[in-house]
Amino acid sequence: MARNQKDYFYYKAKNEGYRSRASYKLDQINKKHNVIKPGDSIVDLGAAPGGWLQMAKELSGGRVVGVDLQKIKPIDGVETIKGDITRDTTLEKIEEIIGKQGADVVICDAAPNLTGSWELDHGRSIALSESALSIAKKLLRPGGNFVVKVFQGDMFKDFLDEAKENFVYVRSYTPAASRKESAEIYVIGKKFLSIGIKKGQEFELEIKEIGEKGDGIARINDFIVFVKDGTAGKRVRVCIREVHPKFAFADIIQ
Ligand SMILES: C[S@@+](CC[C@H](N)C(=O)[O-])C[C@H]1O[C@@H](n2cnc3c(N)ncnc32)[C@H](O)[C@@H]1O
Repeated sequence: MARNQKDYFYYKAKNEGYRSRASYKLDQINKKHNVIKPGDSIVDLGAAPGGWLQMAKELSGGRVVGVDLQKIKPIDGVETIKGDITRDTTLEKIEEIIGKQGADVVICDAAPNLTGSWELDHGRSIALSESALSIAKKLLRPGGNFVVKVFQGDMFKDFLDEAKENFVYVRSYTPAASRKESAEIYVIGKKFLSIGIKKGQEFELEIKEIGEKGDGIARINDFIVFVKDGTAGKRVRVCIREVHPKFAFADIIQ
């Protein structure tokens, strides 16, 4: 079955003009998780030979930028950078193209050269995923989405937990186009949070004013926390109840 499945997506890509079978993985991820919408600006990390870039351009029609250690052959309407995603200079080059408004979506299908040692391959994959998450945190606009490939192993859960601190919604997913024998899994992060905050977290905050709906309003930098039954001028300890990209709801616990 794995063999048939491999042949199926391989030949499908050849027939339909995609550079790799991986194009269908991105399409399936998007059908399931709705990460890319028309007009989105997208940064693709580890993008060669360009199957995801072709699909990303097709799905969004917006600005698409691909980065890889390898040179990527030109694709209509897609900008490419030859660079290493673990280096700061690469981030600077992407920022020059994307500008201050930030990217709507960051996707990463980067993979290390496989050695056959499960632990080593897992460790290197996690390191690349960490680099991708770090780039996503710098590039995404609040509310933006993230997709990253990870090879499963001991450190997977810690990586997932880290992603959960930065997005309202985090899931893992294996598209049907992934080879059955592959250890790869994709982590999907939706609605990037402008600060690292999560449900259940506690903060001590000062209620600055009362909002139109009667909630107290406190701020962590530009992030607003609406505090139920808050009193203006009071310092309170709160527990976060519901998180959104630029604001959260909280209850007083003390
Ligand atoms: C599985 S391929 C990506 C396939 C691509 N999504 C597609 O659809 O054509 C993985 C890519 O990650 C790239 N890569 C690995 N480490 C990288 C790094 N540190 N910086 C940039 N690209 C990297 C590799 O050069 C390789 O082209």
